[in-house]
Amino acid sequence: MSFETLSIEDRGAIRVITVNRPDKLNALNETTLSELDAAFGAAADTAAVRVVVLTGAGPKAFVAGADIAQMTTLSPIQARDFSRLGQGLMRRIEGLGKPVIAMVNGFALGGGMELAMACHLRIASDNARLGQPEINLGLIPGFGGTQRLLRLAGRSAALELCLLGQPIDAPRALALNLVNRVVPSAELEAETMKLASQLAAAAPQAVRGILDAITIGGEAGLEAGLDYESQCFALAFSTDDMKEGTSAFLARRKAEFTGR
Ligand code: COA
Repeated sequence: MSFETLSIEDRGAIRVITVNRPDKLNALNETTLSELDAAFGAAADTAAVRVVVLTGAGPKAFVAGADIAQMTTLSPIQARDFSRLGQGLMRRIEGLGKPVIAMVNGFALGGGMELAMACHLRIASDNARLGQPEINLGLIPGFGGTQRLLRLAGRSAALELCLLGQPIDAPRALALNLVNRVVPSAELEAETMKLASQLAAAAPQAVRGILDAITIGGEAGLEAGLDYESQCFALAFSTDDMKEGTSAFLARRKAEFTGR
């Protein structure tokens, strides 16, 4: 797999996808969005990949937004397609069936924040800045930001961040539940890989059940969501890993999950 705007590296069962346009602070143009979609599709299809880490190249940015230069060339119809392309990527990440961790190593603005919010977990460096500054361009978020920000941080914070367009620092993002952890930037990669390794060693069907029950079931209303949870719960009983996990507990030994 080779990409113009991404680099891909496998570290055991962890696939690291890096948006690689550091001279443009990893801004998302059409090519990058399409390549990310293809890269996540490949990660989903590769059984050996258990966890994906998504990050941005260079010391300054995770992703500084949708590519503003490219956006100036779009007609309204093309803008709708651009928005749909971004939204489709975010849905693919959310529904990947494998955990995706955003390693937020600097600016995560606009489409960058939307990308981070579509991931299942977010770890930010202490110098990260997150925000939805589209209002300053006479725009609004178009890759799902209004909806995911509302769900993650609530209406008050969503309105504040989108209406004022002022980026927030990592501690405030943590207080708003927009990131799961904040760590010193020198420790960001090690901490992210530690978390990814823990997830890579977990029973993959149980991981998938949790991801699906929360991301898909969580959008369905309580009754339908509970029913969906029961289906995911029941499915786990078909796996060797469930037998291994429960019998290891009862035998007071460490479980060894095989992914079956
Ligand atoms: N789209 C296109 N190019 C972008 C970009 C974006 N979202 N964000 C940064 N870049 C480019 C800059 O144009 C510049 O390119 P150049 O060197 O060819 O002129 C390069 O990346 C470096 O950015 P620069 O602005 O010089 O860095 P900075 O450290 O002074 O500022 C930011 C960093 C993040 C504060 C600033 O780049 C910024 O505000 N970016 C836009 C954020 C935004 O509005 N995102 C939402 C888009 S919908």
